[in-house]
Amino acid sequence: MTINGIVKNGIIKLKENNIEEPLLKIRILVASVLNKPKEYIMAHSEDKLDEVHEKKILEGIEQLMNYVPIQYITNNQEFMKLNFFVNQNVLIPRSDTEILVEEVINTYKNEPVKILDMCTGSGCIAISLKKYMQNSEVCGIDISKEALKVAQLNAKNNNVDVKFKCSDMFTDIKNKDFDVIVSNPPYIKTQVINSLDREVKNEPIIALDGGEDGLYFYKKIIKEAFNFLTDNGMIFLEIGYDQKDELVELINADKRYELIKTKKDLGDNDRIVVVKKV
Ligand SMILES: C[S@@+](CC[C@H](N)C(=O)[O-])C[C@H]1O[C@@H](n2cnc3c(N)ncnc32)[C@H](O)[C@@H]1O
Repeated sequence: MTINGIVKNGIIKLKENNIEEPLLKIRILVASVLNKPKEYIMAHSEDKLDEVHEKKILEGIEQLMNYVPIQYITNNQEFMKLNFFVNQNVLIPRSDTEILVEEVINTYKNEPVKILDMCTGSGCIAISLKKYMQNSEVCGIDISKEALKVAQLNAKNNNVDVKFKCSDMFTDIKNKDFDVIVSNPPYIKTQVINSLDREVKNEPIIALDGGEDGLYFYKKIIKEAFNFLTDNGMIFLEIGYDQKDELVELINADKRYELIKTKKDLGDNDRIVVVKKV
């Protein structure tokens, strides 16, 4: 079959299964299997595929039809202009989270700060911070050993030195001198998980489920982070689009902190909260 033929057939199959953005997904899949840029697919549409590549692309189309996110098939997602390996043990890094990383970078520039990335997953936040703040010392924490394997691989691939540790939140953290605690924790309400897109439901539930009110991890971080921060240390949190008021209430109720700012993402949704220890 030609590249064009497999792309056309793939689009028909994905459309039949109501998969969004079929053309884009098939192009990414074909480019990944052929190990070529997407533009190559357009320029070589009449090229005949060899059997091995054809079989791999057909398997990928099958996975897409079963709502496996394209990033888990190609094992790649770009974040902060860096490439991250991803598999079904980690949340796929989202562009909204780049706002959180940029806020930390803009606050500290190249100061020699010590940073803790709580709930690190693929390590995308921790690794990007270390890459763009080379004087920083960065540690990433996750409860999932499988996620930490991915994070370690990503640090190696991106050539940065980040320490990763397995811990249930702050339980096994010894250092108490972090200038920054940054986190994109699970924040979806348990009862909402079932109604998420089928592709999102293929991401690890442990990365999504924020408890009954979606605030379980924020409450824990706000309660415990204080003891792990230096004087004037700061907390940077990603939040769900509808969680700002609840977060502001939680922070204002705790006199150990001052709310510095909240910020929206490019889609005009509330996305981050920045807090300072007083
Ligand atoms: C929303 S994902 C964020 C991943 C990554 N930081 C990102 O922004 O793409 C949340 C992560 O929290 C981790 N996690 C869940 N419960 C945890 C706990 N009790 N302690 C530490 N990490 C936890 C999950 O394994 C998952 O990797």
